[in-house]
Amino acid sequence: MMNIVLIGFMGSGKTTVGRALSAKSDMEFLDTDALIESKEDCKISTIFTEKGEAHFRALENAALKSLAVTKDKVISTGGGIVSSHNNRELLKKAGKVIYLRVSPETVIKRLEGDISRPLLMGEDKLSRVEELLSLRRALYESTADRIIDVDDLSVEEIVDSIMKDF
Ligand code: S3P
Repeated sequence: MMNIVLIGFMGSGKTTVGRALSAKSDMEFLDTDALIESKEDCKISTIFTEKGEAHFRALENAALKSLAVTKDKVISTGGGIVSSHNNRELLKKAGKVIYLRVSPETVIKRLEGDISRPLLMGEDKLSRVEELLSLRRALYESTADRIIDVDDLSVEEIVDSIMKDF
């Protein structure tokens, strides 16, 4: 079987759903942000502040390329991974891509008090989320094989909905 690749905005639940799906399906779990943090031995937020976003994007692209040979895994990704054309092609090749679609209001609710997302620091988080989502929405949608609206679903319901297809 091929990989299942989860994409979506920060706070859409990619990591939580990925872990739960991995446990239920017995497929190993991988997370591109975790791969970067372990390879660099450094937190994502520190990479952003010390080396900048462009450097992080290069590391993210390298992490995605390193997954080209994996199969039968559940792979969760960083919310900005769809920003480059090359990444979008790699994602599609990596396996079945599932977009966990979430509303800006849910993102704000879930990430209240979160300090691990450098792109959402500062005032007026809602406008920032809306701005980023308007840049990315079409990219998530065109990369995905399947879209799941997750606002009103539990983790278990999302996992079951994904597994139904396999
Ligand atoms: C980012 C999302 C983060 C992480 C980095 C940048 C983004 O991952 O990759 O902070 O550009 O949306 P999560 O989606 O897991 O929060």
